[in-house]
Amino acid sequence: NQPKTWSQRFESALDPIVAEFNASIGFDIELIEYDLTGSVAHAKMLAKVGIISPEEAETLVSGLEQIRQEYRQGTFNPGVDAEDVHFAVERRLTELVGDAGKKLHTARSRNDQVGTDTRLYLRDKIQTIRQNVRQFQRALLRLAEQNVETPIPGYTHLQRAQPLSLAHHLLAYFEMFQRDWERLGEVYERVNISPLGSGALAGTTFPIDRHYTAELLGFKQPYRNSLDGVSDRDFAIEFVNAASLIMVHLSRLSEEVILWASQEFNFIQLKDNCSTGSSIMPQKKNPDVPELVRGKTGRVFGHLQGLLVLMKALPLAYNKDLQEDKEALFDTVKTVQGCLQSMTVLFDSGLEFRTERLQTAVAEDFSNATDVADYLAAKGVPFREAYNLVGKVVRTSLAAGKLLKDLTLEEWQDLHPQFEADIYQAIAPKQVISARNSYGGTGFEQVRQALNTAQTLLEN
Ligand code: ARG
Repeated sequence: NQPKTWSQRFESALDPIVAEFNASIGFDIELIEYDLTGSVAHAKMLAKVGIISPEEAETLVSGLEQIRQEYRQGTFNPGVDAEDVHFAVERRLTELVGDAGKKLHTARSRNDQVGTDTRLYLRDKIQTIRQNVRQFQRALLRLAEQNVETPIPGYTHLQRAQPLSLAHHLLAYFEMFQRDWERLGEVYERVNISPLGSGALAGTTFPIDRHYTAELLGFKQPYRNSLDGVSDRDFAIEFVNAASLIMVHLSRLSEEVILWASQEFNFIQLKDNCSTGSSIMPQKKNPDVPELVRGKTGRVFGHLQGLLVLMKALPLAYNKDLQEDKEALFDTVKTVQGCLQSMTVLFDSGLEFRTERLQTAVAEDFSNATDVADYLAAKGVPFREAYNLVGKVVRTSLAAGKLLKDLTLEEWQDLHPQFEADIYQAIAPKQVISARNSYGGTGFEQVRQALNTAQTLLEN
């Protein structure tokens, strides 16, 4: 157990329970590579403005890179006595390079340092998660391309409404994830600002160059206000918000997959690579992936709420409360990535739509009733009048145990003289779907155009 960096100020040691409670090294080690990168930039800047010599900077940089190697090789494992990743690195650096190591923290505080690390970390993770979103969109698109003319019942209120092209249904999700991808890009812009050089809160007496460190680290610009730089976490909340919306979208799709896999719907068959069995019921095949995604959605929402409450009414500037932002962020990143990757496997190779069952499903209900009303309305009958008439037909057909396609032409014409033999064609599921050819509709022509648009979107 080594003494704390700040121990000279104190007469006696930290209580071991408090030391453990206070330490963040158990989780902020996740930031180490970003911490090293930030320190390299800081060291170069210190030399550039003449606060340290170029030789000292070189020594610092090579020491920092050596720590990176040690970490990657698994030989750098600081314990609780290091307190946090920043102290752990500084201590090891001084062990490695001697006195030069003690100069690294000139004109810097852990407050601007941790803010820098967190932003570098998030920048990286946002890019990876955007790739994960893209992969999932590709899986959705592939499946959509194969299923333009595969029908699926469309629902409102979870009641059969109008039949759809399965591709149209899948492309609805593609669009949601397109917005998620864009949203992450927008969040990135606000993550990509450098707090480095804000000092503890007020800036520094040294002639530092914040624009230079910002540039070295690839940040768009430095924070304009040092207090804001060290105490802002809205960028983290925005990220978890974007992540939460991804989870909203994933959870809606998951719920549909779970329903579709049930015997009641029987629209999909789960493949062995994505489902699990039961310890007692030999017949079971369970949709664990979408169920877990649905469940994990709750924890990401929890992190969003947690961060909002963490920041509420927190006075300027740094408060130790802020140390609590990290586990929420790390867990959000890990959870969203895991969900996106597993759902990609599920949609790439873990399920199969039962095409025949879908064909019969859309033929066995009254989801073509709107089309009968549209048929008459197209012939000049006011829509509401046609609608009322078809409502009556549905009621009497139900009572007679018939579907609309079972009515004879005589029966149709008794209902309204404008019905002709082409009514059968007009209410056939395929026609019902392909006729909805308005912009953004489920008509096959529209869907084919939407597939092209989706392809183009993926190229960006
Ligand atoms: N481990 C700390 C955190 O994550 C680093 C910043 C500590 N700053 C301080 N003034 N105690 O927030």
